[in-house]
Amino acid sequence: MFDKLTRPLRDLRISVTDRCNFRCRYCMPRESFEKDHPFLPHAELLTFEEITRLAKIFHTLGVRKIRLTGGEPLLRKDVEVLVEMLASALPGVDLALTTNGSLLAGKAQTLKDAGLHRITISLDALDNEIFRDIIDVNFSVEDILASIRAAEEAGFSPIKINMVVKRGVNEGEILPMARHFRGTGHILRFIEFMDVGSTNRWESGDVVPAKDIIAAIQREFPLEPLEPNYHGEVANRWRYRDGQGEIGLIASVTQPFCGDCTRIRLSAVGELFTCLFAGEGHDLRGLLRQGAGDAGVEAFIQNLWRRRKDRYSELRQEKSASRQDKVEMSYIGG
Ligand code: GTP
Ligand code: 5AD
Ligand code: SF4
Ligand code: SF4
Repeated sequence: MFDKLTRPLRDLRISVTDRCNFRCRYCMPRESFEKDHPFLPHAELLTFEEITRLAKIFHTLGVRKIRLTGGEPLLRKDVEVLVEMLASALPGVDLALTTNGSLLAGKAQTLKDAGLHRITISLDALDNEIFRDIIDVNFSVEDILASIRAAEEAGFSPIKINMVVKRGVNEGEILPMARHFRGTGHILRFIEFMDVGSTNRWESGDVVPAKDIIAAIQREFPLEPLEPNYHGEVANRWRYRDGQGEIGLIASVTQPFCGDCTRIRLSAVGELFTCLFAGEGHDLRGLLRQGAGDAGVEAFIQNLWRRRKDRYSELRQEKSASRQDKVEMSYIGG
């Protein structure tokens, strides 16, 4: 099954909650996500049974990787039960989760036992003051490092560490982060700050281009490029020439990768989004709750995918244009 730009559907990203216990300034800035923010009521969320049913249908349509995201996915009650349901329903599917790491220390082993294959943990700085200034809540770098250790002990390997780089905020942390994670077996990925959503006040001048990040690291640690692990991999891989592991660069602003984009996103209330920068979703939950059979749901998704022609990041680059109606990243997942 291919979309209008002959891209197959391979990855499903499922947001299990739109809530988060962090208020990262580039994602859920406090002024836009205060207590009166209309978060989704629990009763509206897809149930684990609904999610599992949909995942199976997506698998039939070609999905081979599922990533659970949020908001913060570990805030969803009993999320390990969902992991277990997905892992046993779809043993051949690569099952991953992206978390901010704040609640992981006590849950890493449970998630591993439930059948989670891979974990990605966000960490934007090693300096506590910079870290807290970004996340805007009271957790420390040490809390996240403890979670990384717990994930390691639970047997997740390699662990990916996501660092969003924003000019004037944490670019000074690029080298300390590289030094820290070199030689640990974990894969540090530097992500260009993106104009996702409409609350994070993105400006193109805030982006530190991936090529500058590579150049900065090269000056201290010689690097060489690696081939992608699979077609359409988001991160460009580099290895330290001295054998101390690899890093990744996610250059979604300066080197967009829409041409190979095989991803679809499911919000916590069951809307489908064919692009991270989409303005609106397509309601699957309504279909499920009206009693549609699997064939009907399949046809709906097929129809949507076959019409898809999203390539926002490429268009942004071509026209340096940005729209204002984009859905928030915490709503559809990263
Ligand atoms: P694996 O290769 O499976 O380990 O995962 P991944 O490279 O897809 O990594 P992950 O899912 O952690 O994505 C990393 C980051 O890349 C996300 O948090 C986003 O910031 C960015 N990203 C992922 N998918 C897209 C996408 O479709 N479009 C854009 N513009 N950015 C994306
Ligand atoms: N630009 C780039 N990455 C972002 N993330 C959240 N918001 C942005 C943004 N505006 C990242 C988080 C996390 C993942 C879920 O998405 O840091 O690693
Ligand atoms: Fe929460 Fe992740 Fe967004 Fe930060 S980036 S506010 S941790 S969902
Ligand atoms: Fe895919 Fe949209 Fe991201 Fe391009 S901008 S890679 S089409 S999700």
